[in-house]
Amino acid sequence: MATLILTLFISFLVALIFLSFPNPSSSSQLNNHSVPLQSYIIFVKQPAENSTHTTQAARDNWYESFLPFTTFAFRKSRILRTYSSAISGFVAKLSADELHQVSLNPSFLTAIPNRQNHRLFTTHSPAFLGLNHVDGGLWNYSNYGAGIIIGILDTGIHPGHPSFSDQAMPNPPSKWKGRCQFQQAGACNKKLIGARFHSVFNSDSPDDDDGHGTHVSATAAGAFVPDANFLSSSYGTAAGVAPLAHLAMYKICGKDFCTDDAILDGIDSAINDGVDVISISLGEHSRNFYDSITGIGSFKAIRKGIFVSCAAGNDGPEMSTVTNDAPWILTVGASTTDRNVRATVKLGSGEELDGESVFQPKSGNDDSSLLPLVFPDSGVTDDGSMNCSPETLRAADVRGKSVFCYDDRSGSEIGRLVKEAGGASLILSNSRQLGYTTMAFPQVLPATLLSYEAGRKILSYINSTSNPTAAIIFKGTILGASPAPMMAGFSSRGPSLASPGILKPDIIGPGVNILAAWPFQVKPESPKSNITTLFNMISGTSMSAPHLSGIAALLKSVHPDWSPAAIKSAIMTTADTIGNDGYPIRNEQNAPASFFDTGAGHVDPTKAANPGLIYNLTVDDYTSYLCGLGYTNAQVEVITGTSVSCEKMKKISEAELNYPSIMAILRSDEGAELRRVVTNVGEERSSFLVQVEFPEGIEVRVEPEKLDFMKVGETKSFTVRIMTKGSGEGEVVQGSLKWVSDNHVVRSPVVVQHG
Ligand SMILES: *[C@@H]1O[C@H](CO)[C@@H](O)[C@H](O)[C@H]1NC(C)=O
Ligand SMILES: *[C@@H]1O[C@H](CO)[C@@H](O)[C@H](O)[C@H]1NC(C)=O
Ligand SMILES: *[C@@H]1O[C@H](CO)[C@@H](O)[C@H](O)[C@H]1NC(C)=O
Ligand SMILES: *[C@@H]1O[C@H](CO)[C@@H](O)[C@H](O)[C@H]1NC(C)=O
Ligand SMILES: *[C@@H]1O[C@H](CO)[C@@H](O)[C@H](O)[C@H]1NC(C)=O
Ligand SMILES: *[C@@H]1O[C@H](CO)[C@@H](O)[C@H](O)[C@H]1NC(C)=O
Repeated sequence: MATLILTLFISFLVALIFLSFPNPSSSSQLNNHSVPLQSYIIFVKQPAENSTHTTQAARDNWYESFLPFTTFAFRKSRILRTYSSAISGFVAKLSADELHQVSLNPSFLTAIPNRQNHRLFTTHSPAFLGLNHVDGGLWNYSNYGAGIIIGILDTGIHPGHPSFSDQAMPNPPSKWKGRCQFQQAGACNKKLIGARFHSVFNSDSPDDDDGHGTHVSATAAGAFVPDANFLSSSYGTAAGVAPLAHLAMYKICGKDFCTDDAILDGIDSAINDGVDVISISLGEHSRNFYDSITGIGSFKAIRKGIFVSCAAGNDGPEMSTVTNDAPWILTVGASTTDRNVRATVKLGSGEELDGESVFQPKSGNDDSSLLPLVFPDSGVTDDGSMNCSPETLRAADVRGKSVFCYDDRSGSEIGRLVKEAGGASLILSNSRQLGYTTMAFPQVLPATLLSYEAGRKILSYINSTSNPTAAIIFKGTILGASPAPMMAGFSSRGPSLASPGILKPDIIGPGVNILAAWPFQVKPESPKSNITTLFNMISGTSMSAPHLSGIAALLKSVHPDWSPAAIKSAIMTTADTIGNDGYPIRNEQNAPASFFDTGAGHVDPTKAANPGLIYNLTVDDYTSYLCGLGYTNAQVEVITGTSVSCEKMKKISEAELNYPSIMAILRSDEGAELRRVVTNVGEERSSFLVQVEFPEGIEVRVEPEKLDFMKVGETKSFTVRIMTKGSGEGEVVQGSLKWVSDNHVVRSPVVVQHG
């Protein structure tokens, strides 16, 4: 208790320092004009099994009893939210002194300030994933996810969009207890079966005023929509990954931000309503799982058998940027697909370089539109800082010319500046950092975005001649682009900071230039065009996570009895590591990707439906692991929601968690030894032989080397001993461990790090 209160005092100080900044809006939060109030999420112990706090009203009364007498008159206005499933606890506005009083209650666990800085991770895929293969694609035998409910926590949803039509949809399953908080009749239907809002941003409807939530929902479970396109690119039938699954929206974000209390409230409702899968495309960095709202809420979902898929974050390619990294969550990174919306630069020298542009103007498709090409060189480097500022553009006199700029991830901002300065077209090169990941933004003038490499070639050409010229040739949608998938430069990377001994992210899936439903008409600002569309093409790990949520729904409909850990294992151990060019999947620099980029690899849904073996985990395993991380009983209880005594539990190290991937941190020359247990979910009688692949210098011994199963559900354990022949500190080596039978290859990526 002493340490807890100490940490609490530190957080008051932080809170008070925050509030003492001259922020005009904070004065309105003062209840009595002298004591600043701050909103806290208060975690309390679970009421005893035999307690009377079984109804929500009784629980709420109990929560109120935590507040000090001084607040008696305002109790109702001080408690902002109460929870039943996501956590045991409530959100209250308290002064520092009052929080101290609350913390003295013996049932108090911890309090965290309610934060508002969660970011949304935005910046043809079913076919690319092989779902529609006529012979045995997963759509065929999962019945498109019929009967499964996907709960989406996001910015709301736009009802009535064709992607949410309920034609051909079955009725929701009888276990569904959710609500539809749209005022308008018919907004919810058999596709969109529930929609709630939890937001504190003066929103009184689950409608989507951002677009993100609509896009993510349609990606997971949108209906088939013929003739979907974006500004006449990428014509085709749009469909979500699980087109017959039901959707439930929990609106927990306003435009661009979300709050902790609303996220917990969304998870609370999703659990109580009866969803099967939760999809979360937002997050923030936490160094400890007891401080991570998505981690804490998700644990309660996993307890109930609900699968949770989360975006890894968009802070790549720097290392250790991965978020939503708790081992009970599927952490999803982003990669490209084989679809390009091509806009090729043709230089005066005749050389052609492919780039991408979602806006494909009709005119300018021939060489006659070669324009003078200028580089408003401001001496900036190619690291993504803006070289095309209003000043440099003016100095370079870009009027009527084609302008070369470096992209600074500001979307269409550069295009607007170039157009204002009189530029005729924009040739945008990626920064060195984003390398080959070309995200196609709608620009306000004819434009294309090229890889950093192609940008260098254009610069050398500009250097080589006194009269550089260029044209942009719009080639429309190209399928079968190679190599694909490729790691998206922005996708957040491992290792995990909260748990460096668990390999993260877990998996990658499509997240670059994803076409899906949008609530508003999207149109380029070009006067030449008046095309509008109700679809939008955006990029981010936000787009990858719902792909995996849809895949989890398909797997759940094939294997209703599988635990979330089993589904996750199936997804990870069957992932692809080879691109469509036959080489290992590459990163944004066109070099082989590391496991800190890709995790187990690129999802292969059809193989995931039949993995052969799975690495299963129970809630108790996670609890032992949390104790093993050195967390206090109270910190573990905040996550698990049950009373925990680590002294009595078996504590296990990170390496001992029965995870489908292996991360071995060698602390000495002694090497490491760890154990795993696999469950047979394939054929009754089957034999698996081990195969290990490692570079020179690492020796891995698996014991036994053969596993014989006599029935389904049987488990076998094995040990892995990893030895190294004297490598340098910090060095990271990767390899794999496979169990191979006649019908299955069960692969675990293995990372060995010298501590
Ligand atoms: C405001 O709070 C302070 C400190 O708790 C207390 O002394 C004061 O009486 C309160 N004022 C009013 C108007 O309630
Ligand atoms: C609930 O159970 C605990 C121990 O299991 C016991 O000490 C307590 O008296 C019980 N309370 C009620 C209200 O029955
Ligand atoms: C699966 O494929 C078979 C053979 O092509 C077909 O007869 C059947 O209708 C398909 N089932 C579904 C649910 O699409
Ligand atoms: C182009 O020339 C400038 C200066 O003349 C030089 O700094 C730059 O590196 C050259 N760029 C390429 C790509 O050759
Ligand atoms: C643009 O709008 C005008 C007037 O409404 C219409 O005549 C024309 O066909 C439209 N063009 C396109 C490409 O949709
Ligand atoms: C995995 O473990 C869970 C929890 O113990 C159990 O319900 C499930 O049957 C196990 N096996 C599979 C394949 O999910």
